[in-house]
Amino acid sequence: MGLLSGKATCNTHGQDSSYFLGWQEYEKNPYDEVQNPTGIIQMGLAENQLSFDLLESWLDRNPDAAGFKRDGQSIFRELALFQDYHGLPAFKKALVEFMSEIRGNKVTFDTSKIVLTAGATSANETLMFCLAEPGEAFLLPTPYYPGFDRDLKWRTGVEIVPIQCTSLNGFQITEMALEEAYQLAQKRHLKVKGVLVTNPSNPLGTTMSRNELNLLVNFITEKNIHLISDEIYSGTVFSSPGFVSIMEILKDRNCENTEVWNRVHIVYSLSKDLGLPGFRVGAIYSNDDTVVAAATKMSSFGLVSSQTQYLLSALLSDKKFAQNYISENKKRLKQRHRKLVSGLEKAGISCLKSNAGLFCWVDMRHLLSSNTFEAEMELWKKIVYDVKLNISPGSSCHCTEPGWFRVCFANMSEDTLKLSMQRLKAFVDSITTTLHNQSNHQSIKNSRRRSFTKWVFRLSFDDPMTGER
Ligand SMILES: Cc1ncc(COP(=O)(O)O)c(C=O)c1O
Repeated sequence: MGLLSGKATCNTHGQDSSYFLGWQEYEKNPYDEVQNPTGIIQMGLAENQLSFDLLESWLDRNPDAAGFKRDGQSIFRELALFQDYHGLPAFKKALVEFMSEIRGNKVTFDTSKIVLTAGATSANETLMFCLAEPGEAFLLPTPYYPGFDRDLKWRTGVEIVPIQCTSLNGFQITEMALEEAYQLAQKRHLKVKGVLVTNPSNPLGTTMSRNELNLLVNFITEKNIHLISDEIYSGTVFSSPGFVSIMEILKDRNCENTEVWNRVHIVYSLSKDLGLPGFRVGAIYSNDDTVVAAATKMSSFGLVSSQTQYLLSALLSDKKFAQNYISENKKRLKQRHRKLVSGLEKAGISCLKSNAGLFCWVDMRHLLSSNTFEAEMELWKKIVYDVKLNISPGSSCHCTEPGWFRVCFANMSEDTLKLSMQRLKAFVDSITTTLHNQSNHQSIKNSRRRSFTKWVFRLSFDDPMTGER
């Protein structure tokens, strides 16, 4: 132990968060329709498995792309030797055009401003290395993606200060919450270097309103700090209001050539929109040349392999395919989301109204034995171990209100989703019956206790004037 670094032995990775613990429990006993029908159903993993058939049929139609061939000729050697950290120009072009397509072509992106990274995980960490010193802080609205504790803090030494959002306004960011977070950082003697938001939000599944985005731009302008917009879920917006990228807001406000233009950075990845987390394809988009140059050099530590870039440049530059994929994928997500919401409703559970993402933000406050995080953990354990559903408790997302859970819907078959809802309904029915019986029992006990106490009080504390307490 003594010979290892502090980083290797410290506990700040977040591995012991209930978010990751749930995954470990699932690994021990994974549900399988045939092999293990009583196993745990994984609903804590934001994977998009709804549109694989579209990708697979494109691969069938375009065998050269995955076969390392161009016009029928092998380019194996070319790909095997390619290691330029600037990335394949054809892939960068295809990626920025795909990003514009997702934003309804309201904004365009320049290939000279994009840096390829091994997923959004690497993109977010790289931005921390570029924008902050160890011990400086970024403000993040709560609830937030649990992986950020690892991605933003662990190796960089950067601190996260929460912007406390609440259910009172659907967890939207307010001017007051931003200011309070800034003050809290100052109280903790942390220099604030920026705000990081996820739009659409993980775990809320909601898009940010123009009002919130404008608030953010005003805030970072006033405080002279950065803004990172993690737009990894931008292609998953399946209902109105549509997605508004921070780039669109900057354009609308004519921010080009202003200082703030260089302080806004976008993170993107193909892990969610294309459902390819295993391919490790992410990107940083920044208007600041120095950030782009530094991040490009840093990307040596997490490059995207050349065969992945080659394959995906062919796939994404097939415009017709890309457009059809985006709209069909959204349709499927919308339908799946509806199935989850109605399944939850049948179990008497509601969730935050959402229009994006691969999950719902589910309100189980009424099922808590008390309004505490201990009770949230108690309920979560029952849901994982007894009901056999792995969902993510709000506390793992740093939510300030106990009783909220993130439930994923796009990483399983429709039948599995149906089964998960049956299990949940049976559980809720059983505990509401128990709670009902308990409360009946308790009210009998209470009324007995009341008459007993009244009687005792009458003996000892009777008002001498009225005969009443
Ligand atoms: C908001 C957010 N950012 C980043 C990531 C990491 O994504 P990637 O697989 O591209 O590293 C995730 C994954 O769940 C996420 O939800």
